[in-house]
Amino acid sequence: MATIDEPLIDMTTIDEEKLGSFMGQAVVDVGTSMAAPLLIIGEKLGLFKAMMKAGPLTSAEVAERAGTSERYTREWLRGQAAGGYVAYDADTDRYTLPDEHALALAVDDSPFYILGIYPAVASVSADVDTLSQRFRTGEGFGWHEHDPRLFSATELFFRPGYAANLVPQWLPTLDGVVEKLEAGAKVADVGCGHGVSTFLMAKAFPNSKFHGFDYHDKSIDRARELAEEEGVAAQCTFEVASAQDFPGDGYDLITHFDCLHDMGDPVGAARHAREVIAEDGSWMIVEPMAADTVQENLNPVGRLYYNASTVICTPASLSQDVGLALGAQAGEAALRQVAEQGGFTRFRRATETPFNLILEARP
Ligand SMILES: C[S@@+](CC[C@H](N)C(=O)[O-])C[C@H]1O[C@@H](n2cnc3c(N)ncnc32)[C@H](O)[C@@H]1O
Repeated sequence: MATIDEPLIDMTTIDEEKLGSFMGQAVVDVGTSMAAPLLIIGEKLGLFKAMMKAGPLTSAEVAERAGTSERYTREWLRGQAAGGYVAYDADTDRYTLPDEHALALAVDDSPFYILGIYPAVASVSADVDTLSQRFRTGEGFGWHEHDPRLFSATELFFRPGYAANLVPQWLPTLDGVVEKLEAGAKVADVGCGHGVSTFLMAKAFPNSKFHGFDYHDKSIDRARELAEEEGVAAQCTFEVASAQDFPGDGYDLITHFDCLHDMGDPVGAARHAREVIAEDGSWMIVEPMAADTVQENLNPVGRLYYNASTVICTPASLSQDVGLALGAQAGEAALRQVAEQGGFTRFRRATETPFNLILEARP
């Protein structure tokens, strides 16, 4: 054990420039972390929306538009300006939300909208004590066990990306799938969560039938509600069922959106998909963007996914039978192995976005 005379790290060996540069990064990160609740408040109270397309505003004008207290709003605006989220003009003491930032912060259905994720940060923070304990024991922490803000955040965060990509960009890259969906196909959306992907496909392909499955009962309740709201309830069914044994067969298309790596037994899920897919069917696997090696994933997207994976995806998988724990950065090679072990013979990367890998497996 080091004493005061014998420090743990000998300061004479320290590279001051390296220390200064790391401290700079660490302070930025602390500021960013502290900004998370402020972004949740901004979203909840419509502060960014109040600034959208409004040009330069005083704090009193922002507060009036949002129906908030001027003093709180002024402090909030200064924090946002320090983070570069809004622009500040010192001469007029006014704040502006640039249109480019509004796409990420104020337009809910823009593919760039980012605020949906922040309640997930609050959810994980609320579960931090339990998660720390599971780190020691190695026990899992199921999706269903999380503070429920995780579920609505997942819906809000994924929805704009799916709306922009799923029907216009991703499905057309699969082999003959759009033609089948137009004519009338049978689709299983497995691990469907709140069913955003299910209702988007149902709206685009009125001749097809969609069956959403998820082991989490509250997600299935919300999926049914959303299908009603979106006017596609007659085309969709939602059932509580696991990926390893959901009912039905002869599916022309089976989809797993951002969930295969969360499962304890992805090979079992692949095997079951193989059993119930039509002989010329397609299995669409949408996974977080990742390369096959750790070093290639050490970038801002990898940072987001490895961190989310540590507290959400890996514990979710460990909580289930087998507990393979692929992690959210599994990469194409590991996913190919899962599909092949499940009995699929053809596997390819159909397309990709900066956030997602879109894979197609066929019998
Ligand atoms: C990250 S969420 C994705 C939800 C949805 N697919 C989406 O993209 O919005 C992962 C989902 O997988 C579900 N899930 C995890 N393990 C499962 C299993 N073994 N069988 C069925 N669903 C499972 C969870 O309940 C959760 O809804």
